[in-house]
Amino acid sequence: MALLRGTPVTLFLHLCLLDWSAWAKVELTMHEAVEVYAGDSAQIPCQYNFTDADNEPSFVMIQWFVKAAGNSARTRIFYGDRSQHIVDNNTDYSGRVEVIADDQGTRLAIQHVQLRDEREFLCQVNGLAAGNAEGKTHLKVFAPPEAPVIEGVVSGISITNEVPSQVASCEARSGFPKPNITWYRDSVPLVPTLGYTNVLTLVSQQSSGFISVQSTLEYKVIKEDKDARFSCEVSFFVPGAIRTVESNSINITVHYPTTMVELWKQSPQGLVKEGDTVELRCQGDGNPPPSFVFNREQELDVDLENQGDVLKLSPVSRKDSGIYQCRPLNRDDSSEVKGEMQLTVHYLDPAVVVPKDSEFMLKGEDLTATCNALSSLQTATVWYKNGKQVGKGNTLHLKDANYETAGEYICEVTVPSLPALHTSGSVHIIVQGSPQLVGGEQEVRLEEATGRIVNLSCEAHGHPPPSISWIVIGSQIWNEVVSKPNEHVTHSVLSVKVTADISASCNASNDMGTEVKAFSIKAIPRFTSAAPFSPAEGSGVIIVVIILCLLLLAILGSVLYFLHKKGKIPCGRSGKQEITKEKTTKDDIVVEMKTNTKNEEAVLLKAVNGDKKGPDEQ
Ligand SMILES: *[C@@H]1O[C@H](CO)[C@@H](O)[C@H](O)[C@H]1NC(C)=O
Ligand SMILES: *[C@@H]1O[C@H](CO)[C@@H](O)[C@H](O)[C@H]1NC(C)=O
Ligand SMILES: *[C@@H]1O[C@H](CO)[C@@H](O)[C@H](O)[C@H]1NC(C)=O
Ligand SMILES: *[C@@H]1O[C@H](CO)[C@@H](O)[C@H](O)[C@H]1NC(C)=O
Ligand SMILES: *[C@@H]1O[C@H](CO)[C@@H](O)[C@H](O)[C@H]1NC(C)=O
Ligand SMILES: *[C@@H]1O[C@H](CO)[C@@H](O)[C@H](O)[C@H]1NC(C)=O
Repeated sequence: MALLRGTPVTLFLHLCLLDWSAWAKVELTMHEAVEVYAGDSAQIPCQYNFTDADNEPSFVMIQWFVKAAGNSARTRIFYGDRSQHIVDNNTDYSGRVEVIADDQGTRLAIQHVQLRDEREFLCQVNGLAAGNAEGKTHLKVFAPPEAPVIEGVVSGISITNEVPSQVASCEARSGFPKPNITWYRDSVPLVPTLGYTNVLTLVSQQSSGFISVQSTLEYKVIKEDKDARFSCEVSFFVPGAIRTVESNSINITVHYPTTMVELWKQSPQGLVKEGDTVELRCQGDGNPPPSFVFNREQELDVDLENQGDVLKLSPVSRKDSGIYQCRPLNRDDSSEVKGEMQLTVHYLDPAVVVPKDSEFMLKGEDLTATCNALSSLQTATVWYKNGKQVGKGNTLHLKDANYETAGEYICEVTVPSLPALHTSGSVHIIVQGSPQLVGGEQEVRLEEATGRIVNLSCEAHGHPPPSISWIVIGSQIWNEVVSKPNEHVTHSVLSVKVTADISASCNASNDMGTEVKAFSIKAIPRFTSAAPFSPAEGSGVIIVVIILCLLLLAILGSVLYFLHKKGKIPCGRSGKQEITKEKTTKDDIVVEMKTNTKNEEAVLLKAVNGDKKGPDEQ
């Protein structure tokens, strides 16, 4: 105990050690360093033995000291000998350390290692005459930092910045010893390079000894960095190793100027025609997307009104055809970046038909009609008359005009490549000429029962429309029941009662001439409708009855003569049979007559119907 009390005592001990060491020796080994996590307990062994085994010292004194970092002053923390083990009062280790003797020597056990325990621990063994020795161990304390926290710059970073810009910062908190921070771009370490990559590190130590490291990455951003991911990695020492922990990876917003602009037609799809709503869209490769200004090439000083990156033209006309441009609205960026496109607005003008409206032709004449519609595209022309196609191409040749040539000709002009475009025009052809009777000029002969009413039809083509007059000889009872003058045809039907043979003629005439059609009707006399049989039928029956009676009389006479010779036989059965036959014959004749009448009617109807067919054919 007295040894510890003052410098003179220490000095004395020192001298003694020197003296004794001449012939006796203590061999002492200690680890150079002992590594331990903060909070754990550490064991610092101090192994020793006395070289002179015969001379085991009776007294061995063990002392432990600590040496403050950067200070050569030592503080004793423990003293022990055979009789006592004393942990010094009022040191950092009072109550925290224990010294345990074992067969190897002795060891110091420290509980709840703290960061400030990172220092040298000295073990001094003094066996007086047996010798003395001292050794030291550096206690290394480790505290892993918290996981690194990365934070990217929120605002966009322009690639046009001339010096590296701050991109992200990373912090590793509360570690010991000082952790390192390394930056990665897409898993490739970023090595600080002058003018391209700077890493600024800020190290701060808390009073507790923990060290926080904050690292800021300054980086010269390139366009490709918009897709890159940045991360930081903290590396720190742990007992016996180096560990690393990586942060999340972040992306950054890179601003880069527009180097290319594209202008295209967004709608409508395909060819553009007059009246359409056209949308032209402009897009550049810059970030953030710039605003655009739209112009026409021929009026570069006039800015067109756009909605964002879309230029809307509605409705377009052929005047809107031309070259359109769009350019980014970056005033500072004077580069000649622009998008350009040609807009073609297609059109089809109304069809112009020559001759127009109505055109007169004389029978037999030729005429060529044309139909033209101005268009920006190839057109196709088709001519129609009464819904039927009569020609193709923009000219229509009408040759050797007749009344069938007359009518409305419609030309339809279409644009095969743009079906929405079509137009049409028409010409009305009037064929002038003398009347032409349907069915020709031949005389129409008919037979008709007296008292019947017959319709005589007369239809005449011609222009100006023929007027039809009738002359009827042989009947007073007639009237015109139909009279329809059209542009090219006049149809007249005369209803006449057959009283006797009739001859009628229809006279169709206009300024250009006259044509006459004659009808002759033969009247067939007949009995009044009240008689059950016609006279012809009656006389036929009488003749048959007379012949039969004569036959009967002859047979009766011969039978009577025969019976008279042989005996009596009644007669009657065969007579009845004859009467039946007679009736049958009579019926046949009636049928035949009726058939005849029918045939006559059929002829008449046919004539009338034939005439009626005329107008349909036109
Ligand atoms: C103790 O002595 C032996 C020889 O007897 C030697 O091998 C050993 O290394 C020594 N131990 C220490 C801790 O010095
Ligand atoms: C340490 O302090 C305790 C009481 O606090 C006392 O009993 C003891 O003697 C002291 N020891 C030394 C070596 O001063
Ligand atoms: C930290 O960086 C220094 C200097 O490059 C290096 O000596 C040290 O070993 C690094 N520490 C870790 C834990 O990587
Ligand atoms: C980062 O990338 C994600 C998806 O990969 C995206 O949603 C996000 O907007 C990006 N952030 C920045 C700042 O570029
Ligand atoms: C004659 O024509 C008129 C008018 O079309 C019609 O009413 C009449 O029935 C016709 N007569 C005959 C016998 O066809
Ligand atoms: C038919 O009528 C026209 C005009 O009414 C007349 O000039 C001409 O003589 C007539 N022809 C005949 C054959 O009746």
